[in-house]
Amino acid sequence: MKDIIIINGPNLNLTGNREPGIYGRISFDDFLEELIPYFPKVNLSYYQSNIEGELINRIQESMLEFNAIVLNAGAYCHTSVAIGDAVRAIDIPVVEVHISNVFAREDFRHMSYIAPHCTGSITGFGLDSYRLAIEHLIKM
Ligand code: DQA
Repeated sequence: MKDIIIINGPNLNLTGNREPGIYGRISFDDFLEELIPYFPKVNLSYYQSNIEGELINRIQESMLEFNAIVLNAGAYCHTSVAIGDAVRAIDIPVVEVHISNVFAREDFRHMSYIAPHCTGSITGFGLDSYRLAIEHLIKM
């Protein structure tokens, strides 16, 4: 059994309503209901915050509670040295995910302060990015 946490950053609580052409029409809670049975051998947890410091606290605590993190820091990935440092500071694998293809969007979304400290990044597969990240993590 693996314990994996999905940590979502700002505005991802609006998934399903926010810019549906980019982020889709399904809420994250509904998506999680589909995702959990897909991985019967994973104890999957979920945390979301719009607040940078809360995300950092959760990343630090996760090191003691989980085997791995799937992290979508939202716009903070493009701005937050502090979240990048938190990922760098912990010694469990972190996979960065994005719902949209950040490289097909504005230039400021091409840069991530988090990616260099992650096992890898998955971007542009819609909500399936999260499933692909877990597929990788269960093999580790
Ligand atoms: C996002 C991409 C970010 O650029 C954006 O700020 C988000 C969502 C994504 O999942 O595609 O909030 O992380």
